[in-house]
Amino acid sequence: MATTTLPRYALRRQLSLPSRTRVAHIPSHISQQQRRRVSAYGYEQAKALTFRDYGEPSDVLSLHSHSISPAHSNLLTLRFLASPINPADINQIQGLYPSKPTFTTSLGTPYPLAVAGNEAVAQVLSTGSAVSALSKGDWVIMNRPSLGTWRTHAQLPESAVLKIDNHEHLSPIQVGTVSVNPCTAYRLLRDFVPLTPGDWFIQNGANSGVGRAAIQLARAWGYRSINVVRARPDDPAATDALRADLTSLGADIVVTDAELQARDFRDRVAEWTHAGREPLKLALNCVGGKPALALAKQLAPHGCMVTYGAMGRKPLEVPASLLIFRDIRFAGFWVSEWAARHPGEKKKTVEHVLNLMREGGFRDAPVERVEWGWETKGEELVRRVEGTLEGFRSGKGVFVFGEE
Ligand SMILES: NC(=O)c1ccc[n+]([C@@H]2O[C@H](COP(=O)([O-])OP(=O)(O)OC[C@H]3O[C@@H](n4cnc5c(N)ncnc54)[C@H](OP(=O)(O)O)[C@@H]3O)[C@@H](O)[C@H]2O)c1
Repeated sequence: MATTTLPRYALRRQLSLPSRTRVAHIPSHISQQQRRRVSAYGYEQAKALTFRDYGEPSDVLSLHSHSISPAHSNLLTLRFLASPINPADINQIQGLYPSKPTFTTSLGTPYPLAVAGNEAVAQVLSTGSAVSALSKGDWVIMNRPSLGTWRTHAQLPESAVLKIDNHEHLSPIQVGTVSVNPCTAYRLLRDFVPLTPGDWFIQNGANSGVGRAAIQLARAWGYRSINVVRARPDDPAATDALRADLTSLGADIVVTDAELQARDFRDRVAEWTHAGREPLKLALNCVGGKPALALAKQLAPHGCMVTYGAMGRKPLEVPASLLIFRDIRFAGFWVSEWAARHPGEKKKTVEHVLNLMREGGFRDAPVERVEWGWETKGEELVRRVEGTLEGFRSGKGVFVFGEE
């Protein structure tokens, strides 16, 4: 491994040692081992994808190195294991997300920086003396958004994280992606319309992380699903493969957006639901715009459409007739706000999904692993963040961090 010898003033700055620390007290072997992540003083070397201003990820994100002082009081030093690149993370970097990150100089810069990323699993490396319920080696997920998860290490208060019990049979990617998409799907199916086994729902964006989770939870609970996906442009084989993939997860019906817009689609719904004797009560909207309206029109009177995503970036326009004559209810859901109001329920929801994973009843969504080792260049990490909001992707990007 290559080593770097720094002048002692630079070394003291890099280790974030107080200026009064006598350089003579810094053992010489630290300067010989800058690539090591822990100094003899317990300072953890860390790297983070950060931004100073809102903007496009390729314009504003950069990799920043810093050091983390030993954990004290209620603080934990964490090593991240896996962190997804979710659409909301991009919206947050663009400044378009309601949950704002903290811009701070605590990473040793003269100007405030924010760390990107909202969801992750991390391992506890060390704990302050007032930490009561966590110890070295535990796995934790974030208790709230905007803590900054695209980083190798962090120091956070104990209250910011949720312990994951019995993680032995779970992968970092499973745990690191459980709290947003599967939890959202879970609450969408549970909290808006009382569904019982045999009941139907319809959703667009059915191949999204949320959509795939909804299909699998529905299968576990006996609900039946009509799933809308976008046809793969000029590639019928890929569209068929997507249908087969979702069917293998437990989807009852998979149709394309063109089929949904066709005149006879209501007749097909009537056929599937036995002329409405099994009414379509719930629609889950990931997309917005015309595809969402087409979804709402399939609902039985008094049905409910819940919007949780806006991937099509078009507003939803609703004709008055759907409200007046059919009494269709339009609702929205945001998992961050829900989790803040129901912390106990969030823990139970996460545990329930993780149990399904342990039992083999919940397949991972397709991911593109982005290996983040100590030597990985910032440009490479930023390149992998780009394109997250574009369609027809083979899988969600997930940062997977290297060994301790
Ligand atoms: N409200 C909440 O609490 C909450 C929680 C989780 C997620 N979300 C939101 O849910 C959405 C999906 O998130 P995710 O992480 O599940 O997504 P994901 O796994 O990254 O998948 C993205 C989905 O969006 C579709 N898509 C992309 N561009 C599109 C476009 N222009 N028009 C229509 N569909 C398009 C993709 O379909 P193709 O494969 O056809 O491109 C795919 O189904 C995002 O808007 C996200 O912010 C909200």
